[in-house]
Amino acid sequence: MRNSEAQLSSLLNQLAKRGWAIATDFLPSWVIRGLAEEADRLWRQGRFRPAGIGRGSGYQIRQDVRSDLIFWWDELTPTPIQRIYREEIDRLRQALNEALFLSLTEFEVHYAVFPPGAFYRRHRDRFLTADERMISCILYLNAAWDEADGGALRIYDPEGVAHDVVPRAGTFVLLRSDTVEHEVLPTRRERFSVTGWLRRRAREFRILLNVPE
Ligand code: OGA
Ligand code: MN
Repeated sequence: MRNSEAQLSSLLNQLAKRGWAIATDFLPSWVIRGLAEEADRLWRQGRFRPAGIGRGSGYQIRQDVRSDLIFWWDELTPTPIQRIYREEIDRLRQALNEALFLSLTEFEVHYAVFPPGAFYRRHRDRFLTADERMISCILYLNAAWDEADGGALRIYDPEGVAHDVVPRAGTFVLLRSDTVEHEVLPTRRERFSVTGWLRRRAREFRILLNVPE
């Protein structure tokens, strides 16, 4: 199962031009449904944990900044549906490397749920203390989402103009992790997504391997 070439090249073009990209039917609906069912099951089993901000010793839970809960995927033991998603992202990773001369090597990913009332204040995705995160990838899993349900992803362009994305099943968003500011507006319904980051190698390894920045 593969994305169309046209869809991939549209994503690459949008990303290169303005730092973010949107596709509305990124994957077949049975894949979206499979991911949605898995996320829902894990949520009902109590497997999600409050998400934090920062990293290492700077890590903290700040529910005034973000109030979503997350479940990290284990890279070594993917479920069948996770494997399918990872294969699609890997095709995207290779296309990004070729088209934009990036050196993306890894993908870290979790499910996220925003319960009613939850939000995530305006932020960028790259940590201050680690610069591996390059491209944020968000896939929404919510069937029949209405604008009145809230929970839009609000992306700010460099002029500060807001662009809202409705978190509807199958909508897929790419953002430059280092520069693009965005936020999640308060949701009125349970809002599920798969959120991941394409990463380059850590700086120590880039120096060690003598690969360009
Ligand atoms: C994030 C984030 C956006 C969304 O997890 O960093 O910004 O729409 N998520 O869920
Ligand atoms: Mn973010």
